[in-house]
Amino acid sequence: ELTKDWKPTINVAVSGAAGQISNHLLFMLASGEVYGKDQPINLKMLGSTGSYEALQGVAMELEDSLYPLLRSVDIGINAEEIFEDADWALLIGAKPRGPGMERSDLLEMNGSIFSAQGKALDKVAKKDVKVMVVGNPCNTNALICQKNAPSLDPKNFHALTRLDENRAKSQLALKAGVFYTEVSNVAIWGNHSTTQVPDYVNAKIGGAPAVDLIDDLEWCQETMTPLVATRGGALIKKWGRSSAASTAVSIADAIRALVVPTAEGDCFSTAVITDGNPYSDNIPEGIVFSMPATSTGDGNYEICENFVIDEWLEKKIAASVEELSKEKDCVKHLFGEYGGACD
Ligand code: LMR
Repeated sequence: ELTKDWKPTINVAVSGAAGQISNHLLFMLASGEVYGKDQPINLKMLGSTGSYEALQGVAMELEDSLYPLLRSVDIGINAEEIFEDADWALLIGAKPRGPGMERSDLLEMNGSIFSAQGKALDKVAKKDVKVMVVGNPCNTNALICQKNAPSLDPKNFHALTRLDENRAKSQLALKAGVFYTEVSNVAIWGNHSTTQVPDYVNAKIGGAPAVDLIDDLEWCQETMTPLVATRGGALIKKWGRSSAASTAVSIADAIRALVVPTAEGDCFSTAVITDGNPYSDNIPEGIVFSMPATSTGDGNYEICENFVIDEWLEKKIAASVEELSKEKDCVKHLFGEYGGACD
């Protein structure tokens, strides 16, 4: 039921707007199911020269859908035009990986996109813009973007690990034989890559520790963990292209996590800048690392402080830290720092 008590309209910029993920996401955004049924939006869609006609097609479909909350649809291929006064920037456009590739193989190809978009955001977006990077390798792309936007709050740059959280929740629910709504407090630590750490240690089922019900450490460590971490690649093998619908759903979840207060005792996962994080014994500053967070629903978040880091988590987190530090070394030239080497 739509209320007429509408909030002021917000500007939502989406890159890669003619792509498969966006084709699912844009209609969810326009319907009000993400930002709320009282939140009108202007959609500003960024594409490329090659995708411009497709972008026009998407805009036509949005117009034809008569969404009451969708106030305007703009399309373009110039980031500075599309990001103007953006309240949100959902950065999806990038070259996706194909079969047999690791996400880090995309570093060189996609890194330059995110430095240019960081600069554009810095120049024209609202100063409290919330940026969500989806294009891979998303953690390091988010870092590149943030470093190129020095006038924006570094805290507001996110890389998407909500898809990994959803994948972990689904596997835990299947194993425990419960509906997924029973599964909460599932953190993903680290990189959105095969070194990511789905945290079964702090996860809950029915409000109690998940391990009490599942009671199978070997399954948690040797089956669930790699299954979640390699799910993206397994999907690419099946589909011949990377996940689109479930990624769009997880972007919607990730936005909702910031605009709706987190339930008591729960968390959501998001990859953000590690400066000042409460796990400094394990997670150094200066990288974009997925951690558990909570929000009061105002678009901001706090990293949860009470997660237990046991020996297993410590070892796995260290491997993801190492990988992200190497990725950072490879792209330092994209934010004006020297040094580091890339193999
Ligand atoms: C995913 O996790 O499905 C996406 O990041 C696409 C990919 O390359 O795995």
